[in-house]
Amino acid sequence: MTDRMKGKRAVVVGAGQPESDLLGNGRAIATLLAREGAEVCAVDRDPDRAAATVKQIIAEGGKAHAIIADVGSPEDCARLIEESRGIMGGIDTLVNVVAINHVDADPLKLEVANWQLMMDVNLRAIWLTSRAVVPIMQKQGGGSITNISTLGSRTGGGSLFAYSISKAGVNAVTHSFAVSYAPFGIRCNAILPSWVLTPHSIEGLTRHGIVPNRDELEARGSRFVPLGRMGSAMDVANAVLFVSSDEAGFITGLEVPVDGGALAIIGRYERKD
Ligand SMILES: NC(=O)c1ccc[n+]([C@@H]2O[C@H](COP(=O)([O-])OP(=O)(O)OC[C@H]3O[C@@H](n4cnc5c(N)ncnc54)[C@H](O)[C@@H]3O)[C@@H](O)[C@H]2O)c1
Repeated sequence: MTDRMKGKRAVVVGAGQPESDLLGNGRAIATLLAREGAEVCAVDRDPDRAAATVKQIIAEGGKAHAIIADVGSPEDCARLIEESRGIMGGIDTLVNVVAINHVDADPLKLEVANWQLMMDVNLRAIWLTSRAVVPIMQKQGGGSITNISTLGSRTGGGSLFAYSISKAGVNAVTHSFAVSYAPFGIRCNAILPSWVLTPHSIEGLTRHGIVPNRDELEARGSRFVPLGRMGSAMDVANAVLFVSSDEAGFITGLEVPVDGGALAIIGRYERKD
């Protein structure tokens, strides 16, 4: 521990994960911020998942609280911020992690209700939690908001259609909050991971037929990523830690790829047929 978040109060929305030998992004972010000295409110829709993250942080000597909320509900988005403020006395850092893609499909097959569900959970929620936290940060004289987007927000094609569009919206919300609230010392950045080996990615990418199994996903990492491996949840968490900390005090409105160099190979695309 190097105390890079000492004295900070952080809210991580989507801080749980399914039980697995692999670490998910939300738990990795919550535990790393706590290891670096932050008090953490771990928010998840699933009470057992939130409790497991809190248990891990406390076992490591940190301070954490579980909050149960469904970010698909506008009321819950406001309540989770208010509850976190009530428990910790303020909020210095908000990290929005939740996103879904299990109901996505290509543009010709996607159902209208599922488009709306993904826009509500992936995009509207980020606006609503950020809107709720800004007045608190304004009163405190500043803070940081970090949104987990995806490299897929810059790409198109295939069955992750509404997911990619919702994440492009996340990037736009990030720019908007960064510019509007910079005068109050509030920074807002987005992290754009490429494929990261997490329980969620294995489940999602196999369901969408993008890879048949975990072995193939890992193999693709070494074939298509210049650094020769899949990313991990800790790669994402380390980037979140940096942009959330005072070390990034002059950094706002950025889209930060965490991609092993994947963006740098634009132009070497090959058609499959
Ligand atoms: N894993 C990847 O390869 C990858 C790549 C790029 C971007 N991302 C982004 O990372 C984030 C998720 O990370 P992950 O894949 O490790 O998942 P994760 O393991 O961090 O899971 C996130 C948590 O969100 C919770 N959740 C789901 N819907 C919710 C809701 N409506 N309200 C409250 N909580 C809810 C789940 O219960 C789960 O515990 C997403 O924003 C995703 O788009 C992931």
